Order: sequence, then C-alpha cells, then structure tokens
Amino acid sequence: MRAAGRRAVCPGSFDPVTNGHLDIVERAASLFDEVVVAVGVNQSKRRLFSADERMAMLTRAVGHLPNVRVEGFSGLLTTFCTERDIHAIVKGLRAVSDFDYELQMAQMNSSLSSVETVFVPTSPEWSFLASSLVKEVASYGGDVSALVPDFVNDALVARLRDA
Ligand code: PNS
Repeated sequence: MRAAGRRAVCPGSFDPVTNGHLDIVERAASLFDEVVVAVGVNQSKRRLFSADERMAMLTRAVGHLPNVRVEGFSGLLTTFCTERDIHAIVKGLRAVSDFDYELQMAQMNSSLSSVETVFVPTSPEWSFLASSLVKEVASYGGDVSALVPDFVNDALVARLRDA
C-alpha cells in the first residue's frame, strides 16, 4: 500500500552504492510517492569516490525508478527533510547489530523535528553487504561484481587499479 502524497528520504554515504542500497531504495519507491536519495557530502570523511562520482553512480542506478531523485546533502539530515517537506527517513536494517545505532539516530532525529524513521529489513541475499566490505574485498582483487551494479564494479576496479 502506498501512502498518498508522501515523500521519503533514503540517506547515506553510498561510497559506492551497492545492490543492498538499491534494494532498500526500490522498496521505499514502492511505499512512497516520491523518494529522495540523499548523498552525504560531508568533507571530513575520507571517501574512495567524490560526492559528484557517488551521485552520478546513484543517478544511473536509480534511472529505472521514475519517482526517485538523487541529491547531495551536508549538515543535519533533519534540516534537509524540513526544507523539502519530507516526513519519513527510510533505513535498511541488515542485522541486530545495525539496530542500536539506527535506533539512536532515529530517536535523535525525531527529537530534532517531526520526521519519522521507517526501518525496512534488508533482503537476506544482501544482509552481509556493506560498502566498506565491498571496497576492502575489491582492493585485494576479490570479485564483487555480483554485489554492485556493473558500472560500479567497473569504477571500483579502475579506481583501485589507479590507486
Ligand atoms: O551510509 P552511512 O555512512 O551509514 O550514512 C550515515 C548518514 C549520512 C545517514 C548519517 O551519518 C547522517 O544522517 N548524517 C547527517 C548528519 C546528521 O544529521 N547527524 C545526526 C544523526 S542523528
């Protein structure tokens, strides 16, 4: 069932986007009228891919979803939501280990504004998947082509070869 006229955000670093992220975005897109994928562009963190590269990869990866758009964000997620009249944050939960921190963030965000957090259980096939692990495996020459879109795999191989 789709909530009428409702907008949600799927926030993250997406360094790089994985099939696990896309699973959550696709399911958010089926629940809400509009979904904004918000790519954190915080300068302080070291990233493999620049904000522009991460946003370009995501834009390509969600191209088949007409009600999804990609934006960069810095600062507080709740400010981003308030400015766009977004009342729901959609987050994937892979395992119990995700829950503590995600619950803490959800409660902090709801104390800052009226935004609700909606947790979506990650599909079992992607429950072990994290961008950090994908990068680590790829950096040692492991094959991650089943875990990310083809063009992300190509970008990973090229970036790690040049590093
Ligand atoms: O992919 P990540 O790194 O797990 O994403 C974390 C992200 C970007 C969703 C989270 O760090 C975030 O919301 N950052 C924005 C700053 C903010 O609002 N911090 C307060 C969180 S309660």
